[in-house]
This record gives sequence, C-alpha cells and structure tokens, in this order.
Amino acid sequence: MVDVLISNERLKERIRELGRELTEYYKDKTDTLHAVCVLKGSIHFFSELVQNIDMNVEYSFIQVSSYSGVSSTGRVRVKSWIDEPIEGRHVIVVEDILDTGLTLSYVIDYLKRYRPADLKIVTMLKKLGRTSLITPDFTGFEIEDKFVIGYGLDYNEKYRNLPYVGWVRGELK
Ligand code: IMP
Repeated sequence: MVDVLISNERLKERIRELGRELTEYYKDKTDTLHAVCVLKGSIHFFSELVQNIDMNVEYSFIQVSSYSGVSSTGRVRVKSWIDEPIEGRHVIVVEDILDTGLTLSYVIDYLKRYRPADLKIVTMLKKLGRTSLITPDFTGFEIEDKFVIGYGLDYNEKYRNLPYVGWVRGELK
C-alpha cells in the first residue's frame, strides 16, 4: 500500500516555481545553462524542470549509484559520465534526493575538475534531520527522514514510474 506524500499536481506546481527561480537567477549571468541530470532517479524531475527554464538549456546525463535497498552502501559507483565540455559554462546539477550527500559530493568534486564558470545544485527533495555533506542551492521540497519512492525514485528498481512521491506503508517488496 503506497501513501501519497507529494501529489503530481504539487510536484508540477513547485517545479514550475523552481524553473522561474532558476530563470531569474541566471538571466543576467549567461544565455545558456548546462544541466546535468543524475540518472536514474532524476529523470522525471529533470525533464519537467528544464521545460520550465526560460533560456537555452544544454543537457548532460551521468549515472551513479550508492544505494542498495533502503540504505546507502557508502560507496559511489559511476556507471556513465559526461562527455560534453563544461569548462567556463554555467552548470546546474539536477538531483532527485539529498540524504547523506555522499553521491553528490563525489559528483561535484569531479565536475569541478572541468573548471565550470559556476556550479549549482538543484534537488527535488531534501531529507530533514539528516546530516548532509552538501547544501543544495535550490530545493523543491524538504521531507521527513523516511524512505520515499516514485517520480523517479526507486526501491530496487521498482516504483520509479509512479507519478507522485510516496512511501510504502508496511514492508517494502
Ligand atoms: P546520498 O548519497 O546519501 O545523499 O543518497 C542519494 C541517493 O540515494 C539518491 O540519489 C537516491 O538515488 C538514493 N536515495 C536516497 N534516499 C532515498 C529514498 O528515500 N528513496 C529512494 N532513493 C533514495
């Protein structure tokens, strides 16, 4: 039984606002933004967000993982990486959820080596009460510290295609 935590309507409304915030923030800084989607969990958030940014947006996709089941393994595995040049570019890294920040701090450290002009972090969800290595620059929603699924987020590759963010009451299968 899955309980809805954030409905599709609320997600879309907040993502529209985030798009406006980003457009406002970047409009005097650059005419092209380079957005990095952290797969797989960010796929829906990324897709909705970039459609709400009113400027040129270039895309890169990277795939990393650190979770197994409901907890972090503490190790980050890189499955694929960007091959577009980002030196001197304004870059936003688009993440699904910030928990310990381990995954993202690893990604950020590496991306900085390409010397972007500026690098900001946008996360759809941030877990409250967790100590994170990373402070996001833009956040969609702050949620309580529990394991959530849907709108890209999975439990062992399941539930990603739910159109809302929810949590499973009872045992996860
Ligand atoms: P961190 O490295 O601890 O910040 O974890 C970030 C990554 O772990 C996210 O990109 C997700 O893939 C996964 N993750 C963390 N919390 C959850 C959750 O509640 N549901 C599903 N995946 C999660």
